[in-house]
Amino acid sequence: MTSSVFRADLLASRVAFVTGGSSGINKGIARRFIEHGAKVVIVARDPTRLEAARSELDALAPGHVLAISADVRDGAAMEAAATNGRQAFGPYDIVIAGAAGNFLGPAEKLSSNAFAAVIDIDLKGTFHTFKSCHPHLAPAARLIAISAPQAQLPMALQAHVCAAKAGIEALVRTLAVEWGGVTGPRVNALSPGLVAGTYGAEIFLKMVGESALVGAQPIPRLVSLDEVADAVLFLAGPSGDYITGHTLAIDGGIGLPTVAGNAITAAAQRALAASGR
Ligand code: COA
Repeated sequence: MTSSVFRADLLASRVAFVTGGSSGINKGIARRFIEHGAKVVIVARDPTRLEAARSELDALAPGHVLAISADVRDGAAMEAAATNGRQAFGPYDIVIAGAAGNFLGPAEKLSSNAFAAVIDIDLKGTFHTFKSCHPHLAPAARLIAISAPQAQLPMALQAHVCAAKAGIEALVRTLAVEWGGVTGPRVNALSPGLVAGTYGAEIFLKMVGESALVGAQPIPRLVSLDEVADAVLFLAGPSGDYITGHTLAIDGGIGLPTVAGNAITAAAQRALAASGR
């Protein structure tokens, strides 16, 4: 087992549905769920990568993983995936809407199709995932969308991603209200910083280097997959039962409004130094 701060049987007899589960953050989350006893339906578009992930995860606990190839942009395909997964493993205790797309592009050059590609995968995909799983939820199920600091933090060349992630956080808050109730689902988002070893982090690292990426954060390092998975377990386990409509940031503080804050801090530090205190 990878290092976990939670007890080994935390998710025994639980069922999870994870989109984007064939790679990166979402495969890491699926792995952690299986390590803690859950059965997991992983959903992804590319059948070859999906089968590779299924076989890797199945080796941890044979029979605990089901792979379904579907595109989160296709509402009907997601409804079929949610139905088939429930028939195999039972109602969902946890749903992770994690499938995402990202690339850098100047806003004035993004085609309508390019903007739509990311909105459709991230935002519409999250809606399809939660809506499709809604009829198949166990009581007090945990719906968790994977957001990003871009939801709050404007980042140049990522207008499409910032808009999609902001929409996801608004959707999460809305569904938390609309689907509330003692036995209704708890609907939250997780906002991780750059996760070491993932595709997204690797392309940015190659392009600009680590210090440009995380050097200005209060905690100036990348986040590990284990840390992200622990944060998800906190929301997915009994500890998350009274939390809804929230975005949990595990981002080293990058989401703090540091542009204005740094200027004010620097001015205050200069004034303090000048006063001799
Ligand atoms: N840079 C600029 N534009 C891009 C692009 C890139 N890297 N990738 C896709 N686009 C544009 C395409 O040009 C197209 O617009 P056009 O029709 O005007 O030419 C539009 O987006 C749709 O592209 P398409 O390749 O048909 O979309 P897709 O659905 O097959 O793939 C992504 C979209 C986002 C999944 C794809 O860019 C991708 O594979 N990204 C890398 C993997 C990834 O993002 N992983 C998640 C990390 S968080």
